[in-house]
Amino acid sequence: MNLLILFLVLVSLCLSKSNFLESDQRDISYSKQIDKLLKKLDEQYYHEEKEFKYFPPSFYQKKGLYSSNIHGNAMDKENGYLYHLVRQYIGCPDSNMFVSNFVLSALLDCAELGTIQIDQELFELTIDIILEFRDKNQKQGIPSYSFWLQQLKNETWYSSPINLEKIANSMKYMPQWVKTLLDKMGLKFVGMSDMIIDAFHLPPDADDSSVNIALGYRIMNSPFIKQSIKDKWIRNNYDVNGFYNLLKKYSYKPFDTSNSSLNTIDIRTYFGFNEYLSQLNRTENFQLFTTWIMSTDDQIEKLIAIPSNVNNFDCSVLSNTLFGLHYVLINSNQTEFDKIFDQELQGLYLNSTSIIDYAINSQIALNHPDIAFFYYPSVYDFYWFVARNVHLLNSNKQRIQNSLIKLVANSLNESMKNKGTEFLLNNTKLDKNGNIYWEEFLGVYNNKTYNEDTTFSTVMALNALLDTWTISTNQENGTLIRIYDPQTPKNVTDTIKRGIQTLLKENTFSQSNQNAFFSGSFKSVNTWFFYPMNVNYYLNGTVFDPHNPPVVLNEQVAAVRGIYNQSEYQELLQQKWFGYKPIEEFLGYNYDTFSYPYWSSPSITLSMGMSLLSKYQSVKSE
Ligand SMILES: *[C@@H]1O[C@H](CO)[C@@H](O)[C@H](O)[C@H]1NC(C)=O
Ligand SMILES: *[C@@H]1O[C@H](CO)[C@@H](O)[C@H](O)[C@H]1NC(C)=O
Ligand SMILES: *[C@@H]1O[C@H](CO)[C@@H](O)[C@H](O)[C@H]1NC(C)=O
Ligand SMILES: *[C@@H]1O[C@H](CO)[C@@H](O)[C@H](O)[C@H]1NC(C)=O
Ligand SMILES: *[C@@H]1O[C@H](CO)[C@@H](O)[C@H](O)[C@H]1NC(C)=O
Ligand SMILES: *[C@@H]1O[C@H](CO)[C@@H](O)[C@H](O)[C@H]1NC(C)=O
Ligand SMILES: *[C@@H]1O[C@H](CO)[C@@H](O)[C@H](O)[C@H]1NC(C)=O
Ligand SMILES: *[C@@H]1O[C@H](CO)[C@@H](O)[C@H](O)[C@H]1NC(C)=O
Ligand SMILES: *[C@@H]1O[C@H](CO)[C@@H](O)[C@H](O)[C@H]1NC(C)=O
Ligand SMILES: *[C@@H]1O[C@H](CO)[C@@H](O)[C@H](O)[C@H]1NC(C)=O
Ligand SMILES: *[C@@H]1O[C@H](CO)[C@@H](O)[C@H](O)[C@H]1NC(C)=O
Ligand SMILES: *[C@@H]1O[C@H](CO)[C@@H](O)[C@H](O)[C@H]1NC(C)=O
Repeated sequence: MNLLILFLVLVSLCLSKSNFLESDQRDISYSKQIDKLLKKLDEQYYHEEKEFKYFPPSFYQKKGLYSSNIHGNAMDKENGYLYHLVRQYIGCPDSNMFVSNFVLSALLDCAELGTIQIDQELFELTIDIILEFRDKNQKQGIPSYSFWLQQLKNETWYSSPINLEKIANSMKYMPQWVKTLLDKMGLKFVGMSDMIIDAFHLPPDADDSSVNIALGYRIMNSPFIKQSIKDKWIRNNYDVNGFYNLLKKYSYKPFDTSNSSLNTIDIRTYFGFNEYLSQLNRTENFQLFTTWIMSTDDQIEKLIAIPSNVNNFDCSVLSNTLFGLHYVLINSNQTEFDKIFDQELQGLYLNSTSIIDYAINSQIALNHPDIAFFYYPSVYDFYWFVARNVHLLNSNKQRIQNSLIKLVANSLNESMKNKGTEFLLNNTKLDKNGNIYWEEFLGVYNNKTYNEDTTFSTVMALNALLDTWTISTNQENGTLIRIYDPQTPKNVTDTIKRGIQTLLKENTFSQSNQNAFFSGSFKSVNTWFFYPMNVNYYLNGTVFDPHNPPVVLNEQVAAVRGIYNQSEYQELLQQKWFGYKPIEEFLGYNYDTFSYPYWSSPSITLSMGMSLLSKYQSVKSE
């Protein structure tokens, strides 16, 4: 049914080819391009509420949110055109708060820089919906948020994706030929989705919660947002201290043996960071923010569970967590500041910064981006997430008195201005007309590319460079402008200037605006289970043999407790885990043997593109 229609759509789409940066090379002005993007962005707004229906087929969408779609990274040996179409056009619309949060933040950038006026009604509707994503199991006012809307069952609020759930359920009744067709289309995981649907009962997380906090504080401070929106936000999110108490409670403390949940981490995360972790000083505290606001012990069977049942940390999520915290710290009065920023939170803050610095200054972005940035296949996401912290801190240098925040500001600034910038400059590409751009992995295989994520990557890399090297300052009429750090090297200003020229071509945003903005943690051969562990049991308590067990995806707890010394760990890496020797080398994000879901959101490409152009046009001429 659905699929047959999709297939026909596919075939008809085969007739239209895309050519990145080939057809229309005309330059257009900033304001024309921004207007065009704003119009395209409006097409990505869910203007209507829709229910899920099998017939005629229609997906659920929540009115007021910006779109994102769950795609499968299908690929064959040849990197054939059919699979390009599958990636590009077959997607399941999703209604999450995460994407909309970023879009509103980007629109606010533009308003502050004077390039657009915010439509207060649309903005308010989106805020109304975002506020519904607050974790209703928590006390009122605590800004703990989940990725999907919650529903009530047996007195517990649990979150689930309506479209995925319906598709997964229908797979139980699908005839074999449909599954075979899905398989052929490189979407095997869709055919198997009835087996993995329990993995989508997500707990609230630090990432969604922190971007909401950052957006909220921006809204509260903004002259461009009407009062009723501010009132609503604060009415729902006033207990920020309660939120940071939750983050402290569920943080990773590898040297704390008082409770077996605290010093335990996902085996994949442990593998990725084993060198860093093993050189920590065991007599000092060490503590990191984790992704999920939940522990294995506190899961509620069949309703709320961490996917893979063990917590992890992710340097992209950590950067967003710091971003939310920075807004809180910069905007709190002394009483509030002292109450929230206690010794434990200070330690978490310092240690999380340390591992972000490590991610920038080591080779992990090249060697294991799939683990360092567990939920973000795009490395440019990470660099931008850090860069916007740098921009925020550098722009508020005068207001920051606390020595710990000064320390963090300096170290993130140094990391981004040195290795971070080097990474971004290292990865520029030139098209045949001499335009600079960036590209990641979508559709890049077998020495062939369809330029699927090119516009997105270019937008994100340039946002990262610009946020690293400029600060914002207020003008008399309340709008902001950007100013370059006087030390900015010429190769940085030149690269930014040329990159912006690429984005000011008439047709740039008429090509693919797809991206892999984020994903689940399983997205490469290297993010399966073949790693050393010393915690191995099923949720019912039965211990399993870690070397050769059956995989019982939703039931198993496979983790590392405490810290191994290096000789021990290297030894363990030689053994088999879940029947296989660990694959230590990162094999990339494209495989012709399996595919995995990722979230693509043209809304992000468009709104971040608007934000970027607005920032750059405000820069005082060099
Ligand atoms: C509902 O929750 C109660 C206690 O929280 C539990 O004892 C009971 O088994 C649950 N019922 C179902 C159907 O999950
Ligand atoms: C251990 O600590 C975690 C996180 O604070 C908590 O969720 C869990 O309930 C604790 N477990 C036990 C057995 O006390
Ligand atoms: C570990 O930390 C303690 C306390 O800060 C310090 O005295 C000691 O020198 C450190 N050890 C190493 C090897 O750095
Ligand atoms: C500090 O901020 C808190 C929270 O916004 C507020 O309740 C309190 O009245 C403020 N205290 C002072 C002294 O301004
Ligand atoms: C972690 O934070 C503690 C303070 O809680 C500090 O003593 C320690 O040096 C930090 N370690 C790193 C690697 O940041
Ligand atoms: C950031 O680092 C650069 C040098 O790497 C320095 O010139 C600049 O002053 C620093 N910015 C701030 C705000 O500390
Ligand atoms: C940039 O490229 C050079 C030359 O290939 C390489 O040595 C260096 O490690 C790269 N830097 C980063 C941060 O990736
Ligand atoms: C891809 O290009 C590289 C370097 O140009 C070459 O070594 C390799 O054989 C090519 N691969 C295929 C499948 O053509
Ligand atoms: C604000 O002032 C600047 C410089 O004085 C001017 O360029 C800009 O157009 C003004 N913006 C608005 C929205 O009035
Ligand atoms: C950019 O310029 C800086 C200083 O002028 C230099 O150290 C750096 O190597 C250059 N980077 C690249 C990628 O050319
Ligand atoms: C515990 O769960 C595992 C995996 O689902 C299952 O194989 C095993 O039989 C269960 N053990 C008991 C005692 O129920
Ligand atoms: C590492 O751990 C092993 C096993 O616990 C122990 O035998 C060995 O001495 C340790 N090595 C170092 C360098 O601490």
